[in-house]
Amino acid sequence: MTRHITPILSSAALTALLSLPALAESIPPLASLSPPPIPDDNPMTPEKVALGEKLFWDGRLSGNGAMPCSACHLPDLGWGTGGAISFGYPGTQHWRNSQTILNAAYYNKLFWEGNSTSLEAQAPAAAGGAVAGNGDGSMMEMRLRFVPDYVREFKAVFGTDWPNLAHAWDAIAAYQRTIVTDATKVPFDRYLAGDTDAMSDAAKRGMDIYNGKAGCISCHNGALASDQKFYNIGVPAAAEFEQEPLYQITLRWELYQKGVPEDVYRAGADDLGLYHVTKRPEDKGKFRTPSLRELRWTEPYMHNGALWSLADVVDFYDAGGGEGQTAGLQPLGLNDGEKADLVAFLEAMSMDEPLLAEAPELPETATWSEFLK
Ligand code: HEC
Ligand code: HEC
Repeated sequence: MTRHITPILSSAALTALLSLPALAESIPPLASLSPPPIPDDNPMTPEKVALGEKLFWDGRLSGNGAMPCSACHLPDLGWGTGGAISFGYPGTQHWRNSQTILNAAYYNKLFWEGNSTSLEAQAPAAAGGAVAGNGDGSMMEMRLRFVPDYVREFKAVFGTDWPNLAHAWDAIAAYQRTIVTDATKVPFDRYLAGDTDAMSDAAKRGMDIYNGKAGCISCHNGALASDQKFYNIGVPAAAEFEQEPLYQITLRWELYQKGVPEDVYRAGADDLGLYHVTKRPEDKGKFRTPSLRELRWTEPYMHNGALWSLADVVDFYDAGGGEGQTAGLQPLGLNDGEKADLVAFLEAMSMDEPLLAEAPELPETATWSEFLK
């Protein structure tokens, strides 16, 4: 047996060769967003977007007539609820943080556990879900058919005699594709476009830490600053869970709905994330990497809103993530200055001002005899 093998390259050179170019190639760098992709079967028109805007704000698309999409995706609150765990349909409690819909148009997997693949498919799940809109499909459709303005607008946009519920979701999806970051308003994007003064020196140092020492780029990469993959980074359970029976009821109900094995259902004490979709033990506690764009306007953070500030987020990662993480996070050893720089860079990926919107005026419901006139 040969006792000594002469390596062709020194181990340091080999590591450099294997890791550096390969990594640089496989991790897409941060970049500015292009306009979002538009599906072939739901083209955008200004009329469709205007209709979708009204429907997004219209409680007719919920069970009790009062839980429109905007109830939990308020522009003033970063297009979320502003709280840690979202409230639920009256009489229920939701179990997760309401995600911002800002830039949702760019994801190919929606929700924290990625269980919806398009905005068109996501909207009925939200409007019909028992802890969200809790609307019955045929009832919601009938409500739309009693609104003369909607009858006219659906006809103009979709060519049907009467509003069709599936078209309502298409219009809402088209509207959400307009709720996106404007790169000209983002310091980081202006910097990428060549304005070297657009970011502060702290943010520039933070960018190097993000791409280097802190390794954020390995998951929060590409134009969206998300690889759209799933990891368990050990976010602590929500404090509300222990005190709120309604919350515990929702968790059990979700476990049941999603068909987890009985032992998991009985033990069920925390949100298992991607596991609910795949039922693979290694997927417990994994959630979709969220975009890091617009963080200034969308606190609190994480699937259960456990972290309230970007400084808390950076401390969380500096400590190597939370208990039970399986994402391979390591303590980062950042000093206070480096932490502040990283926060400054995260802030520089948000628009200078939040994207706001006014509630549109909603059309009136008519009686049947008014229609027949
Ligand atoms: C009761 C509050 C509530 C209502 C009403 C509601 N949502 Fe949500 N929304 C949430 C919560 C909470 C989540 C995260 C849920 C999850 O991950 O399981 C979410 C997630 C989303 C996402 C996914 C974003 C992402 O990053 O993946 C979109 C898009 C969305 N909602 C749009 C809508 C639309 C459109 C409507 C109306 C048809 C609506 N929502 C109604 C609370 C609500
Ligand atoms: C191994 C992949 C991975 C790495 C590395 C990583 N993250 Fe994350 N990040 C995630 C996942 C997954 C979530 C969602 C976790 C959850 O909600 O349970 C997340 C959530 C976040 C959030 C919350 C965003 C929101 O809208 O709620 C912020 C902020 C964040 N990460 C910043 C960072 C920073 C800064 C770094 C570098 C120090 C970093 N991340 C490194 C995967 C990663």
